[in-house]
Amino acid sequence: MSQGNDDSRETSTPSVVGVRRLKEAMAKPASTRIFTVANQKGGVGKTTTTVNIAAALSMGGLRTLVIDLDPQGNASTALGVPHRDNAGIYEVLMGTHEISSVVQKVAGFPSLDCISSNTSLANAEINLVSMVARELQLKEALETLSANYDYIFIDCPPSLGLLTVNAFAAAKELLIPIQAEYYALEGLSQLLETFAVVKKRLNPSLNLSTILLTMFDGRTRLANDVAANVRAHFPNELIDIPIPRAVRVSEAPSYNQTVMTYDPLSPGAIAYMQVAREIAERGKAKGVTDFDSNVVSINYKKDGEIA
Ligand SMILES: Nc1ncnc2c1ncn2[C@@H]1O[C@H](COP(=O)(O)OP(=O)(O)OP(=O)(O)O)[C@@H](O)[C@H]1O
Ligand SMILES: [Mg+2]
Repeated sequence: MSQGNDDSRETSTPSVVGVRRLKEAMAKPASTRIFTVANQKGGVGKTTTTVNIAAALSMGGLRTLVIDLDPQGNASTALGVPHRDNAGIYEVLMGTHEISSVVQKVAGFPSLDCISSNTSLANAEINLVSMVARELQLKEALETLSANYDYIFIDCPPSLGLLTVNAFAAAKELLIPIQAEYYALEGLSQLLETFAVVKKRLNPSLNLSTILLTMFDGRTRLANDVAANVRAHFPNELIDIPIPRAVRVSEAPSYNQTVMTYDPLSPGAIAYMQVAREIAERGKAKGVTDFDSNVVSINYKKDGEIA
């Protein structure tokens, strides 16, 4: 009887009750960080990573938006927002709806929003082809909205088609989840090539900032070999906290939840929470002294003290 609502280990209750918030807030970025979560390899943990990191950042007090850019709608499902019969990102890309009109609140989080996808999005690749500035539709739509958020995550489909290119053009940072298994790095060169082309032609400020190992099983030699290999190539980009393969992570979407509410004390949830904190730390707004040296010296002399 005295059990609190907060006991999310009680998994027989499928719906989320109350709002999850961490005691210790996460660091705010200086300006909106827009991540594209991409890997054309299917099933590597793009969606799982998107929804759980977004959920964790919002629990840390950061205003966060998830854009489901995959016609499969898995991110919308995991966040428990309606997405089959309502307008979403497809209608925005086609210009029939304002982006602000398709933003939905995600239950159970203080400041987490989602723009859903529906199956019509599968037609977007075809319908976009004839449009002017077809690669920039998402970027242009986001311009009116992005200032409302600290973090925006765009969950890509497993392809390098026009939808993913739109995401690359709209984002500031690229987050690549890599599943620590055989063939993990196969296809990565194609992804990096697309990244390079987009950076050159469409979005010079796009930065491959973050690589995350998913479904990691530290007991196998293979997983450790993949980790060592990725670390050798991307020492700065790799987040050195791998996400373990964990059954609670894979169960959560069938309850229309992220693992952050489904089982916040499970190993997968804890790992995603640590990764989110690391991402926030890496991107936190620096003190004035870190910005422009001219400004620093003026401030320093005027105020007579260093923060
Ligand atoms: N850490 C994990 N432990 C166990 N299962 C996981 C983990 N991460 C993801 N999964 C499961 O693996 C499957 C693929 O994950 P996910 O849907 O996130 O990949 P994806 O890259 O988005 O796939 P797609 O390419 O189809 O969009 C899902 O069933 C998911 O629940
Ligand atoms: Mg997915």
